[in-house]
Amino acid sequence: MIPLTVYHFLQVLTQIIYIMFNNKFEIYEVEKMTPWWKKAVVYQIYPKSFQDSNGDGIGDLQGIIARLDYLENLGVDAIWLSPVYQSPGVDNGYDISNYEAIDPQYGTMADMDELIQKAKEHHIRIVMDLVVNHTSDQHQWFVEARKSKDNPYRDYYIWRDPVDGHEPNSLKSAFSGSAWKFDEQTGQYYLHFFAEQQPDLNWKNPELRQKIYDMMNFWLDKGIGGFRMDVIELIGKDPDKMIRENGPMLHPYLQEMNKNTFGDRDVMTVGETWNATPKIAEEYSDPARHELSMVFQFENQALDQQEGKEKWDLKPLDLGELKKVLVKWQTELDFNHAWNSLFWENHDIPRVISRWGNDKKYRVQCAKMFATVLHLMHGTPYIFNGEEIGMTNCPVKNIDEVEDIESVNMYHERLAEGYDKDKLIHAINVKGRDNARRPMQWNDEKNAGFTKSKPWLTVNPNYKEINVKKALADPNSIFYTYQELITLRHENEIVVNGDFKLVHDTGDEVLAYYRILGTEKWLVVANLSGEEQQFTSTDRIKENLLSNYAVRNDLHDITLKPYEAFAVAIK
Ligand code: GLC
Ligand code: CA
Repeated sequence: MIPLTVYHFLQVLTQIIYIMFNNKFEIYEVEKMTPWWKKAVVYQIYPKSFQDSNGDGIGDLQGIIARLDYLENLGVDAIWLSPVYQSPGVDNGYDISNYEAIDPQYGTMADMDELIQKAKEHHIRIVMDLVVNHTSDQHQWFVEARKSKDNPYRDYYIWRDPVDGHEPNSLKSAFSGSAWKFDEQTGQYYLHFFAEQQPDLNWKNPELRQKIYDMMNFWLDKGIGGFRMDVIELIGKDPDKMIRENGPMLHPYLQEMNKNTFGDRDVMTVGETWNATPKIAEEYSDPARHELSMVFQFENQALDQQEGKEKWDLKPLDLGELKKVLVKWQTELDFNHAWNSLFWENHDIPRVISRWGNDKKYRVQCAKMFATVLHLMHGTPYIFNGEEIGMTNCPVKNIDEVEDIESVNMYHERLAEGYDKDKLIHAINVKGRDNARRPMQWNDEKNAGFTKSKPWLTVNPNYKEINVKKALADPNSIFYTYQELITLRHENEIVVNGDFKLVHDTGDEVLAYYRILGTEKWLVVANLSGEEQQFTSTDRIKENLLSNYAVRNDLHDITLKPYEAFAVAIK
């Protein structure tokens, strides 16, 4: 027999007392197996646009601190904070010049520490954005690297000789033009998959990788809740073989990162992976492989763009296709060995109600429908700031109203190629990233209560109608639907761990599914369209959980209203 030390004895004793007092052995067991981030709802903050506290027109950390009560009231468990590190701001902070410093426009490191601490007091964890596919060209590493071919930092980046006086190959930047930039000083090209001010890091260099892990530990030691990993699927790139995403070294690098940083800490990690299939998502998120908690997949993003073309080449959405992709990720991902993330919006994509719903006549109904469909699915839901009050896209008339580098570069490139100006502006209004980046609409005062001076990006003129103050005062607002959905998740294990089962033969416009846990069964029904639809079921309602029109008493041969959505427990 192994002798019990006093310490072990006390440990076992406290566990027994804990179980006795809670008198819920099973729940204790389940909770042990379910990490916090599977039960969590995450709220993404785009710091530049959230809340300005010092009147310079730019959101900041003290602004976020001032809004923690609001977020606690909404009920979210974590904040994913888009980058607040020191940055020249070419890509709004996704071009980092110092990973261990806060950009002065957002505040100081003391403000950051205060945010982490105060958020904790509000039961909210801070998830930092980890942008390590590239740095800013102002980062000390790159400043050094470009000095000479034998500089000790040279190999932190990816340099190639010209081929016949041209770029080494035809790799393209996501922000238009070649992915290679010629650097006069040393006569070589460097790789940049994004702006030329965002040189790609060379992950093949072990010293560079170690520096990144050290930096991650610097943040983990501050008690953050984890990382959202920017375009992480690119780090295994092999530019000579034209391999961008999902390179052969991607997973070995992530396993090494896990081992050297967050592996034994209670944090969440979510990778941004535009090219993940359910199979690939499993490779990232299978706990046995020790990589990430989950990934963001973007399969639905291609549904309203012409095949083989770019996001600006528009085509109407087919609801049947949208439904198919949603269901695919619920059924093809094996939740015993993987985890999923759920989202409609982020800072790179348009507002969902403008894009796939109706942001005028049915703004409130469709916002609630999108929320209901998503939040009752299997996976961890994310809310992008302003989504919870139904903020909309904001059209512009002219290119000088556009801030985002991706839109601006595309516009000039295509204009030079002979595209029609109005069509380009239209595409920017439908898909441009500024849509989601407009200042948060807090109230109906000047600049929507976002700032006392001129905002860095104009406020959407509809803020008099759509704002937080109004939403909080109206018990039927979109805000309270989000709040209810978060509560449902926190209070019902079926939302977290229940199996997903599609209701078949409901047509393209109606998405209906069950969540099933033991003997418990919930039914979610959503009309994805702006027209009435028929629905029928032999299920009998036990309890109404949530709805965006009058509650239903039975499910037999019913006519769903435009964008109607409801959830019921069934017998
Ligand atoms: C990611 C970010 C996006 C950024 C890009 C380059 O896609 O979400 O905002 O421009 O990476 O860092
Ligand atoms: Ca400010």
